[in-house]
Amino acid sequence: MLAAHPVVPVVVIDHPDQAVPLGKALLAGGIAVMEVTLRTDAGLEGIRRLGALEGMTVGAGSVLTPGQVDEVVQAGATFVVSPGLNAEVVRRAQELGVPALPGIGNASDLMTAVSLGLREVKFFPAGLLGGPAMIKALSAPFAGMTFMPSGGVSLANLGDYLALPCVPAISGSWMVERALINAGEWDAITKLAAEAVDAARAALG
Ligand code: 3PG
Repeated sequence: MLAAHPVVPVVVIDHPDQAVPLGKALLAGGIAVMEVTLRTDAGLEGIRRLGALEGMTVGAGSVLTPGQVDEVVQAGATFVVSPGLNAEVVRRAQELGVPALPGIGNASDLMTAVSLGLREVKFFPAGLLGGPAMIKALSAPFAGMTFMPSGGVSLANLGDYLALPCVPAISGSWMVERALINAGEWDAITKLAAEAVDAARAALG
């Protein structure tokens, strides 16, 4: 999925009614996968509504507990993203047959990820942890592991991340800023999404 969708928006919605117009704005910009976070109460209902939006693959973000894995999968999330690595969260997602994308920040996290059978992880917060250079160094002993950097990724630096063979996709919130969502600036979001996808496809060659 990450290889087919190189830009994964991280979304915070304040009202469930924003979910579908936002999903449509992203689809119009060429983005067909999105991570709706549980950072607001509207997140879960947003996932439920987006699950019914044709053409959109919706995942849940900021998933912290195994109980939340059950909730988001029941709501229709088809992947589960966490800021860090918790074995119980990963195992629950695996039991339910849904890909888990936990955040990692160091080699010890990666060893745990390997022990859980994971082949994909989120690298978070990417910019503060050392950016592409850190991923390059960390990936050396972990052949076959792929990374989705998130946190501080932007239009300006996404190409530096995607230049790494172990980075099939990047993630970020700049094309779905909360202020834009709350202002209903759907056309602006479509434009930012298209710009991000173009830059990513150019970087991937
Ligand atoms: C995440 O959870 O991945 C981040 O909040 C996204 O980071 P950004 O806001 O710096 O893009």
